[in-house]
Amino acid sequence: MTDYIIDLRSDTVSKPTAEMRQAMFEAVVGDDVYGEDPTVNALEQKAAKLFEKEAGLFVPSGTMGNLLACMVHCHRRGTEAIVGDLSHVYLYEQGGAAHIGGIQLATLPNKEDGTFCLEALRRKVRLVDDHEPITALVIVENTHNICGGKVIPLEWIDKLVALLNNNKELQPDGKRIALHMDGARIFNAATALQVPVARIARDFDSVNFCLSKGLSAPVGSILVGSKTFIRQARRLRKALGGGMRQAGILAAAGIVALDTIVPLLQNDHQKTQRIAEAIFSMESPNVTVDLTNVHSNILLIRLTNPKYGANEFSQRCAKVTAEELAVRVCTPVKGEGISLKVSSRDWHVARIVLYQQITDADVVLAIKKFKFVICEIDDALKE
Ligand SMILES: Cc1ncc(COP(=O)(O)O)c(C=O)c1O
Repeated sequence: MTDYIIDLRSDTVSKPTAEMRQAMFEAVVGDDVYGEDPTVNALEQKAAKLFEKEAGLFVPSGTMGNLLACMVHCHRRGTEAIVGDLSHVYLYEQGGAAHIGGIQLATLPNKEDGTFCLEALRRKVRLVDDHEPITALVIVENTHNICGGKVIPLEWIDKLVALLNNNKELQPDGKRIALHMDGARIFNAATALQVPVARIARDFDSVNFCLSKGLSAPVGSILVGSKTFIRQARRLRKALGGGMRQAGILAAAGIVALDTIVPLLQNDHQKTQRIAEAIFSMESPNVTVDLTNVHSNILLIRLTNPKYGANEFSQRCAKVTAEELAVRVCTPVKGEGISLKVSSRDWHVARIVLYQQITDADVVLAIKKFKFVICEIDDALKE
């Protein structure tokens, strides 16, 4: 018998909904490199309006959106962008800013809540010395992926903006250092904070958000900012190979994502919370979660015993054993074993991410499986 697979590795595995597929089928298209795809244009305008920015740009991926933001904001040679040391831009985009854009990434230690120390930022900025690169950009990730879907507090964002706005010594040539938000999951942040995305993005020069993660669209991200910024990004997108011609087929799904999936994100957060509570309530000495710090659709599961790591945990969750089938850890009707796909972030942290296609019934099954596996681990480590 085949196993019933619940894939919780990432929200990037979410699939387009039936409504998206229909919209893709019916999309009116044109050549977007000529600016003639009405569906792409509609998506870009819709995004710009939502974020209260002048313009938007449809790009193939979050990685390209972030790279374009770095390349436009840091267009002068000899510049750097300051990022968190646990940021996606720094860890998981191949250092593209450096090897493609010629931009140095300088890091500040990320705190557990996804922010970094603002005093350290003030001291890190470099603007005048001929020996040093010039700091041209600061990037904030929201929600913060590696920190476990943390929503960056608005108060911290406001302090960051005030620091850069109000200190003359931080303004080379009277111009504020640019601010970019890697808002791959900014709609999750807005949902958690119950504010419009425009409020979170208000003081940022550019924001990139992803359609293909928790929003379920198959492909694409949107970069928003001023008209001048987007004009430059559009030009560079072509150089990076991101000119996509009849991309309206993809953009159509993005429009449906904004209209129909964004209002449902709260469900993903609630499901994440339910799984977190179930694991927490077991009071396992070996596997636990930080319940007070579950903000959105990402849950970090901590393996606290050095004898049992996250890799082992994720392999065990994916496996179905005769013992668990014997006690009916399986689907109720067909009796299929439950295979949970979980990612192992580093030695002691596993990660799960919720998205639309994970149903309430899946959550019940996932909890059942987690409970069985955690009891098994606790028993084994007792001996
Ligand atoms: C926070 C964050 N930024 C950027 C990206 C990059 O997006 P993409 O995979 O579309 O390049 C991801 C991908 O998971 C991400 O989590």
